[in-house]
Amino acid sequence: MKIAILGAMPEEIEPLLEKVNDVKKIEYAKNSYYEAKYAGADVVIAYSKIGCTFSALSAAMLIEHFKCDILLFSGVAGAINEALKIGDLIYASKLCKHDLDITAFGYPPGYVPEGKVFVEADQKLIEIAKKVAKKREIALKEGIIATGDQFIESPQIKEKIKKTFGADAIEMEGYSVALVCDALDVPFFILRAISDAADMDASFDFDRFLEKSAKISADFILEMVEEVGKIS
Ligand code: ADE
Repeated sequence: MKIAILGAMPEEIEPLLEKVNDVKKIEYAKNSYYEAKYAGADVVIAYSKIGCTFSALSAAMLIEHFKCDILLFSGVAGAINEALKIGDLIYASKLCKHDLDITAFGYPPGYVPEGKVFVEADQKLIEIAKKVAKKREIALKEGIIATGDQFIESPQIKEKIKKTFGADAIEMEGYSVALVCDALDVPFFILRAISDAADMDASFDFDRFLEKSAKISADFILEMVEEVGKIS
């Protein structure tokens, strides 16, 4: 069992690289991938760069080139659900792409022919995450994550995404990674720690809390790797 761990930004994978062993850096498809060991499991870690295009590329490379069997995503997100506070952990039950829009042709928001509005995460990985959270007494929330190629810092846009998709959190890579994994039948799990509230203060909060929240997410993902390693 080889486990891919993907982030979008360097800050999202640095806390992982600090804790894994036998790290070997490999350059491929104009990106860096780190093969390593953690708790007896083989892992491949990378940051994709920000957005749907780069993250889809990295997810595909982790699966097709590095032959990973499952994919765990670790990073930060903006909160849409008011109950989510900075540092809170949320995993996606399902994901949508909020800026995919051909409603001009009568299709629902987030839908294109032969696609689907929501991609659902793997139930077994969700069960493992719940088990880890329970064992470690970590609060872990479940919700719908909306992905798009914009950093959202507007209460109006946030409200629209909430109304249209019922989304709880917003980020820029989850759906594209989910779509690649779904297409290739690779179980995936998308975890995010809240860095901002996608409001007027979002860019300021993001800069302030990125590292701290990224570490909260990365630490949880490593706990999951330990559990996944045990059952494989
Ligand atoms: N990732 C973290 N915060 C975000 C926001 N406000 N919009 C989009 N992606 C994010």
